[in-house]
Amino acid sequence: MEFREVIARRRSIRAYSEESVDPAALDRILHAVLRAPSAGNLQAYRIFVIDSPRKRRALATAAGDQAFLAQAPLDLVFFADPDRSATKYGRRGATLYAVQDATIAASFAVLAATDEGLSTVWVGAFDESTVRAVCGDTKLRPVAIIAVGHGAENPRETAGATWTRSSRSSDPLRRRVASPSPFGRTAPP
Ligand SMILES: Cc1cc2nc3c(=O)[nH]c(=O)nc-3n(C[C@H](O)[C@H](O)[C@H](O)COP(=O)(O)O)c2cc1C
Repeated sequence: MEFREVIARRRSIRAYSEESVDPAALDRILHAVLRAPSAGNLQAYRIFVIDSPRKRRALATAAGDQAFLAQAPLDLVFFADPDRSATKYGRRGATLYAVQDATIAASFAVLAATDEGLSTVWVGAFDESTVRAVCGDTKLRPVAIIAVGHGAENPRETAGATWTRSSRSSDPLRRRVASPSPFGRTAPP
């Protein structure tokens, strides 16, 4: 898939079929994640691949009953590893870089999954201690859960979808790019 097509196709999908994810596709997704930038190349994050139905249900509960986490055949839980980043960057590494490393890694997973023709949704609303318990890790900080699977909805047609044409117009770009003129170029006199 062309990169622009990957970007255009990605949408948050909150309904999944029972079809499992091809292990080879998962392998390619995880290898794509390894290509993500990280502070000092420390890769201060860990990924838990959760495919057990019981654990997926527990993740859905931890996320305030976001049932699609149980419905999707796979949940990838991205944890920041603050201690690892702190070894080189101290407090800034622990509080900022490790979270950024994990977030960027999760973004790569989302795009790589899209490239595989799979659907995803990023979940950030969850109880951290419960997610830690489900994954069996007490030291790391869970940053994002990415549901991965075969989508069973078309978000443009689903009632309540947050996608709107206006939200994809160029106006939000102008609001978010903080420079005096587009892309930092000096405005002509
Ligand atoms: C940090 C973060 C946290 C999010 N948490 C949730 C969540 O808990 N549940 C959910 O359904 N979607 C969640 N989303 C997905 C957003 O709602 C979604 O990306 C946004 O509405 C734009 O829609 P799109 O992804 O289809 O472009 C989250 C996205 C981000 C980046």
